[in-house]
Amino acid sequence: MNAFTPRANAKILVDGGDPEETVRVKRLVGYVDGQTTNPTLISKNPEVRTLVSSGHKLSSRQELDEYKKIVQSISPLVGDAGVSIEVYADFDTTAEEMLAQGREMFSWIPNAYVKYPCTHEGLRAAQVSVREAMRVNMTLCFSQEQAAAVYAATKGSKAPVYVSPFVGRLDDRGDNGMDLVKNIKQMYEAGDGHVHVLAASIRHLKHLLGSFALETELVTAPGKVWEEWAGSSFPLPSADFVYQATDKTDRPLRSIAFKSVELNQAWESFDIRHDLTTKGIQQFVADYKSTLKQSA
Ligand code: E4P
Repeated sequence: MNAFTPRANAKILVDGGDPEETVRVKRLVGYVDGQTTNPTLISKNPEVRTLVSSGHKLSSRQELDEYKKIVQSISPLVGDAGVSIEVYADFDTTAEEMLAQGREMFSWIPNAYVKYPCTHEGLRAAQVSVREAMRVNMTLCFSQEQAAAVYAATKGSKAPVYVSPFVGRLDDRGDNGMDLVKNIKQMYEAGDGHVHVLAASIRHLKHLLGSFALETELVTAPGKVWEEWAGSSFPLPSADFVYQATDKTDRPLRSIAFKSVELNQAWESFDIRHDLTTKGIQQFVADYKSTLKQSA
């Protein structure tokens, strides 16, 4: 770190499952406000990988203990944006089952955020969680309707609720993920400010600057993106910054139009289906299961 690192206008989070990476980013940038983890990132943790590749696949309890150990190492390294810990959720997991995991995970560290998917059961679990004063991060968000449902389901939460729109995964299929972030921010202008936007699935510097320019409250990115930011002397978007939405081959991405959505409705009334949420859950389940013994 250096004392001259400019503070971004967003809280900065490391998107990863390895405490060593968090230490590296903190050293380079000077501070880390928080951390996001997910089942894929935990399956890539060096210790978990070593165990799995040496044939020591884990029981689900051992996996949970590994996850706990990892977040307990990260917890003291980060600031007040906390450490987001994701519950296991497949298509049969009920809100009650998610909630039971969430309660346990929330007790692991003093600065936990419990991650639930933007699905019917995930929202139900979030609704109860905030009533119990648990902090939550609603993940796999790919639409304004999902973000509106998050808003409505968690109204009254004392702590800020996070919603995580996945920028990179929308880009990957040709849609401008940053438009979703922009649209959610615009939609929330009519709200009471209890949901904070956490730009996620950030792949490169341009995503980072785009998120800063949109004044998202938080942004999470893998260590390599923060290394790129530090390596380019911590650029921030200038007043005339224009986000260029292009894919890897510089082709323009499709715009996502803003929809006029009334926030003050029952959360169950929003159409929250999205195929990328479904795919995301499938992938998290597969990555989680890859660390488990067959019988577990
Ligand atoms: C963070 O909360 C998300 O799980 C993460 O940013 C997803 O990133 P990916 O799309 O690169 O997997």
